[in-house]
Amino acid sequence: MIEKINNLLNQIENQKIEDLQELENFRIKYLSKKGLINQLFSEFKNVPASEKKETGQKINILKNKAQEIFDKEKNKLSETTGKKQDVDLTLPGDSFTSGSRHPVSIVINQMISIFRSMGFTVSYGPEIEDDWHVFSALNFPEEHPARDMQDTFFIEKNPDILLRTHTSSVQVREMEKHKPPFRIIMPGRVFRNEAVSARSHCIFHQIEGLYVDENVSFADLKQTLLYFAKEMFGEDTKIRLRPSFFPFTEPSAEMDVSCTCKGKGCNLCKYTGWLEVLGCGMVDPAVLESSNIDSKKYTGFAFGIGIERMALLKYNINDIRLFFENDVRFLKQFSSPL
Ligand code: DAH
Repeated sequence: MIEKINNLLNQIENQKIEDLQELENFRIKYLSKKGLINQLFSEFKNVPASEKKETGQKINILKNKAQEIFDKEKNKLSETTGKKQDVDLTLPGDSFTSGSRHPVSIVINQMISIFRSMGFTVSYGPEIEDDWHVFSALNFPEEHPARDMQDTFFIEKNPDILLRTHTSSVQVREMEKHKPPFRIIMPGRVFRNEAVSARSHCIFHQIEGLYVDENVSFADLKQTLLYFAKEMFGEDTKIRLRPSFFPFTEPSAEMDVSCTCKGKGCNLCKYTGWLEVLGCGMVDPAVLESSNIDSKKYTGFAFGIGIERMALLKYNINDIRLFFENDVRFLKQFSSPL
């Protein structure tokens, strides 16, 4: 028995293990349940009592040696050849899908880059606002319907804390912060207590524009918006300004752009040849004064553009709800470097 053990000890010390298969063969031959070392343990009962002590010690030494060799070779192989054998370089690579920008983000980014090229800077304001910044500072009379619960989401009443219904509130914050001259656009999310339909949503986005300086005129407003419309919808785009009313501008106007059907009439423009895209006007002197800007020295223009509306027109989409459903089949149709 002792001799058998010595032979095995000799054998395992000289055993060559060069790859994972040989390592596994080694394990099966010596260390597995039916392996040679376990066999020695089962033969142990036949060893004469006088040799039991020495034999037992020898078997244990053999077992530990075999385990040590196995562990050492396993580590070596996983550092070098093992890795090479685990990776099949001929397999085709895993493909993964990349996401795309949301169409509303694409349009916001495009609008920002157009206004930046005209020297406008970008600012953001809070979505949760107070009455002063959304209504009072903008000249809304006390009984104006927008102040009604039916149109505005109120968080608290008296003093009123609410979700802003337009980005015009950021105008006020910027006028409080800066001294003229300034040219700023203010993109952001707005909220209205409205029934959701194909045409309107209770959450949407606007970009507000504000330019205050000495001698700013309606002609400056018109030229700025014409340049914007041509950049956004194409060089041959025409604009038209229709008189309108907003509490914070005087005079006020709404702007239409010529429809891509070029006056032939289509469903999108309801056969008028024109599409309404924004509200604008000269900042009411009372609004300048409420932010401590001298209305005798300074004048300004402002405009507010609905971003979803821009995206609907740009991509010829007929339902605003698609922008908020996060359906990847819809979203993956859009791609943009911006
Ligand atoms: N705040 C207006 C709205 O949400 C849009 C608007 C109209 C903004 C005229 C302006 C403006 O700055 O001058 O309907």
